[in-house]
Amino acid sequence: MASSVLPLASASPSSASRSSLENNKKKLNLGSNSLSFDLDKNHPFAKAKSFSRISMVASVNVSRFEGITMAPPDPILGVSEAFKADTHGNKLNLGVGAYRTEELQPYVLDVVKKVESLMLERGDNKEYLPIEGLAAFNKATAELLFGANNPVIKQQRVATIQGLSGTGSLRLAAALIERYFPGAKVLISSPTWGNHKNIFNDARVPWSEYRYYDPKTVGLDFEGMISDIKAAPEGSFVLLHGCAHNPTGIDPTPEQWEKIADVIQEKNHIPFFDVAYQGFASGSLDADAASVRLFAARGLELLVAQSYSKNLGLYAERIGAINVVCTSADAATRVKSQLKRLARPMYSNPPVHGARIVANIVGDPALFNEWKAEMEMMAGRIKNVRQKLYDSLCVKDKSGKDWSFILKQIGMFSFTGLSKVQSDNMTDKWHVYMTKDGRISLAGLSLAKCEYLADAIIDSFHNVR
Ligand SMILES: Cc1ncc(COP(=O)(O)O)c(C=O)c1O
Repeated sequence: MASSVLPLASASPSSASRSSLENNKKKLNLGSNSLSFDLDKNHPFAKAKSFSRISMVASVNVSRFEGITMAPPDPILGVSEAFKADTHGNKLNLGVGAYRTEELQPYVLDVVKKVESLMLERGDNKEYLPIEGLAAFNKATAELLFGANNPVIKQQRVATIQGLSGTGSLRLAAALIERYFPGAKVLISSPTWGNHKNIFNDARVPWSEYRYYDPKTVGLDFEGMISDIKAAPEGSFVLLHGCAHNPTGIDPTPEQWEKIADVIQEKNHIPFFDVAYQGFASGSLDADAASVRLFAARGLELLVAQSYSKNLGLYAERIGAINVVCTSADAATRVKSQLKRLARPMYSNPPVHGARIVANIVGDPALFNEWKAEMEMMAGRIKNVRQKLYDSLCVKDKSGKDWSFILKQIGMFSFTGLSKVQSDNMTDKWHVYMTKDGRISLAGLSLAKCEYLADAIIDSFHNVR
């Protein structure tokens, strides 16, 4: 509770309001038994006419946080809250990117339950991890990403530290860029996952966008992408989605990846991969890491943030990593020491539970195979739903519109091409919750609901402009 009346008009007061603060503070004789109270009578907090002891208590109990305004709701997580409040029987939550079963229930992988009961039986302790995280996890995660026999691993050229899932790992990389590459710009795709901009803004790293999505083809604007990367100041960081681009679901072809690598190399840029869906997009850990490995094979230095939220369903365990590939083992050691230095004042050391789950699964061939089979099952369910949605659209839509772009997209998302007003219609009329950029999460869709969704899309597309 506040003990004085301070006119906090904004979170960071201007110099004028600071000096009025000082004056008011001088007039307030705090700490004495008989408070003298000589604030301006028009002061918004001094509403009481009489300055008796009781009314003064009421006026001094105003929050010191009065000047803090309401933050806008998160555009993705806000969708789930609106969905919960809706009581309609056909409602569908296609907003958040979290896997659901055919019954639209959250899913904990069997292999995760198995390894957690082994961990419980073993009675693992809860001691702090080192700043860089669990050593067995860091080894496993870098090997999953690059392949155990990759020269970058063999030559110890990768600085890996455990992060607070994908988001925390990206944030740590952003802090590294801010500290050691002052003024360097990060190029992000237009559009991109909504949190990328927040992360770089918070880290005070300047960013700009490169063209990625072409609304005319609902496909990749490859020429635009290449020319924007070329036009960026030499030595920029280029943020790339390793696979299953969020929100579009549109990935470059292997040939296009080669050309992207060419221009990044030419311009001396630093590739910065966000890998949030390894194994979850295609069902294969290796196929989904091909883009990253292609860049590493060229001898480029690069950053890679990883997440185990989707592929192991460990959303709330916050487990991921940041990897920095350097040209020498010596540079990697120094980079790792600085990543630790950045992590220490932010969160001290990361949580152990998710790290142990990953390390135990990857370290045991039988469990590893079980994980791969479950990942294929999840990726397969999403592919089946994608196909059924496409089939339903083709059967129901008599306009002749080509919906085949949906089949060209990969991963849990589909970018429908619906505008904001059309997306609003999906929610307001059809109770289909989605982000306003037209993205739907197919992981939140069941085969049984595909026809309903197709009706909603056709209505919104043709009848709302
Ligand atoms: C592209 C991308 N990067 C990173 C993340 C980070 O997720 P998390 O912090 O849960 O690992 C996500 C999650 O949706 C994502 O889509």
